[in-house]
Amino acid sequence: MTSKVIAVTGASRGIGSAIALELARRGFTVGCLTRKGRGPETGDAKEYAARFVNVACDVTDEASLKAAFMDVTEKAGALHGLVNNAGIHLDGASHELPTATYEKVMATNATAVFAACREAYPHLVKNGGAIVNIGSFFDKLGVKRNVAYCASKAAVGAITRCLAVEWAAKGIRVLDVAPGYIVTDLNRDAMTKGPLADYLKKRVPSGVSGTTADVAKLVAAIFSEDIPFLSGETIYIDGAQGVNH
Ligand SMILES: NC(=O)c1ccc[n+]([C@@H]2O[C@H](COP(=O)([O-])OP(=O)(O)OC[C@H]3O[C@@H](n4cnc5c(N)ncnc54)[C@H](OP(=O)(O)O)[C@@H]3O)[C@@H](O)[C@H]2O)c1
Repeated sequence: MTSKVIAVTGASRGIGSAIALELARRGFTVGCLTRKGRGPETGDAKEYAARFVNVACDVTDEASLKAAFMDVTEKAGALHGLVNNAGIHLDGASHELPTATYEKVMATNATAVFAACREAYPHLVKNGGAIVNIGSFFDKLGVKRNVAYCASKAAVGAITRCLAVEWAAKGIRVLDVAPGYIVTDLNRDAMTKGPLADYLKKRVPSGVSGTTADVAKLVAAIFSEDIPFLSGETIYIDGAQGVNH
């Protein structure tokens, strides 16, 4: 058990909620940063409510990020880690995709990841710590209608590598955890029945999609195992789909 404090963006739903819950189960205090100021609300969330510090924060707003980290540290104590999980997915045919749509995806999925790392730095540099950015296995794939999302997740890998190198001597490790298709409440129907489900059964070697718990366990293990030499890497968690031929 630990009393360390980890901030998780987008902790109200899906993967972020599962990460926040798993960290709380392992004894961490979790700063949950979402636009609506909500933390996890499903599963055994109520049992761990005392370990959540819920803060309203739009990750695309730098002032909001700065204030959120201050708020979390004032309420819970020094920050030891950050999980940049908040993300959006907008798609469309590339030949007619508006620049505004492309930039919206980049703003949330890539620029905000950099800005959150930078705003967390003054807190993390005091005692050292770790940052886990949630990327995607789409970072290395060519996916029709997904130019903005794929570019944004490739940027997450680059941001991770650069900050890991630049901040290593400051005792800050930076990793990119890159999931494959993960079933969440929002996509459960599409992922478990219909054409996407049929496609995944063929593409994922086990025939089974990932769960939010899979990603949450990996992220929580990175914080609870605290392995000093592990930094800068993109760790894929996709059931071997990305390397499947
Ligand atoms: N699901 C998958 O198959 C999959 C696969 C690979 C990678 N990923 C990545 O995993 C991450 C989480 O995905 P998910 O499927 O769990 O998403 P989700 O269910 O749509 O949840 C997104 C979370 O991000 C928050 N959020 C969105 N925009 C925000 C903003 N501007 N500021 C603060 N919070 C914001 C949302 O809360 P509010 O609306 O309350 O702000 C929500 O808590 C994303 O980075 C995604 O790209 C997902």
